[in-house]
Amino acid sequence: MKIVITGGCGFLGVGIARKLMQRPDMDSLVLFDAKVPDVVPDGLDGRVTMVDGDISDRDQVAALIDRDDIGAFHLASVVSAGGEKDFDLAMRVNFDGGRNILDALRTRNGTPRIVFASSLAAFGGPDMPEAVTDMTRLLPQTTYGMTKAIGELMINEYTRKGFLDGRAVRLPTVIIRPGAPNAAASGFASGVFREPLSGVEYVLPVAMDTRMMVIGARNAIAGLIGLMDADGDALGADRVVNLPNNAYAVTEMIAALERVAAEKGIALGPITLSPDPATEAIVKSWPLAMQDSRARTLGLPKDDSLEAIIREYIEDFIEGGL
Ligand SMILES: NC(=O)c1ccc[n+]([C@@H]2O[C@H](COP(=O)([O-])OP(=O)(O)OC[C@H]3O[C@@H](n4cnc5c(N)ncnc54)[C@H](O)[C@@H]3O)[C@@H](O)[C@H]2O)c1
Repeated sequence: MKIVITGGCGFLGVGIARKLMQRPDMDSLVLFDAKVPDVVPDGLDGRVTMVDGDISDRDQVAALIDRDDIGAFHLASVVSAGGEKDFDLAMRVNFDGGRNILDALRTRNGTPRIVFASSLAAFGGPDMPEAVTDMTRLLPQTTYGMTKAIGELMINEYTRKGFLDGRAVRLPTVIIRPGAPNAAASGFASGVFREPLSGVEYVLPVAMDTRMMVIGARNAIAGLIGLMDADGDALGADRVVNLPNNAYAVTEMIAALERVAAEKGIALGPITLSPDPATEAIVKSWPLAMQDSRARTLGLPKDDSLEAIIREYIEDFIEGGL
């Protein structure tokens, strides 16, 4: 089987790729990305090819989908703050690019599976309940969220028509992103751990009482792969699932970080506050809590605690050197 991961050289793409290495039935894994690194990331083997390209290029995307025993994770995206800065780019990459991968899969026999990474940013609006459910109406307040909502509708529609077997996850903020931040407004929920753990100052762009729904990287990756493997009949006509999550205020994040640092003898860099109105406006448009009962019924895993997520990051990326 061949798997294509669009945006495959990003945070979640590489994480999914590392996990897929354990599958003996997968003989080819393509990481398609606009920014391909010089060397193949650690933990990947000779079945992996990195392809440099743009998801909005229809021909390039069609060329990736060159056999019938194929599946895809569609992660390539302009992210939240990036979409607010450049509407046309977000439409080209997120909307046109999304259609390109779906249309390419549609040409194959055997209704290939695709998992699309949507976001909590698909929700929004003044009438949004404090805790959204899988069925809450989508009224996104960012260009990014709007393109994710359209992506979800396309996944359901291409599945209904029998063109492919689509699935989509609404991801809460995935923590802790290693390395450099991307243009997501949620980046503080990783930076507030990552920079102090490396002994570096972190300048927090949101108020201390800001709450954020999060999932640890290991469980986000397990959720994306778990949805790929899920029985289509169990999903029914609505192929979109809120991933498991927990919500924490920044103060709780810092307290958990201090506890884990003390336990591991890590000297933390300082955290200072410099709120950025543009970041705060985007974050405030998102829901405060997201029910995840559907994901739990499907067996997708949920984090035990914030401390566990921090320990996993230390194991994987600081001690493990990924
Ligand atoms: N990480 C999170 O907290 C989170 C939360 C909600 C939703 N998501 C969604 O999950 C997906 C993956 O997130 P991530 O954290 O790995 O993001 P990321 O920014 O690390 O990776 C996205 C990748 O897409 C690539 N890309 C961007 N434009 C492209 C284009 N035109 N053509 C091809 N590739 C392109 C980027 O180069 C990048 O490597 C995204 O769709 C994102 O919107 C992530």
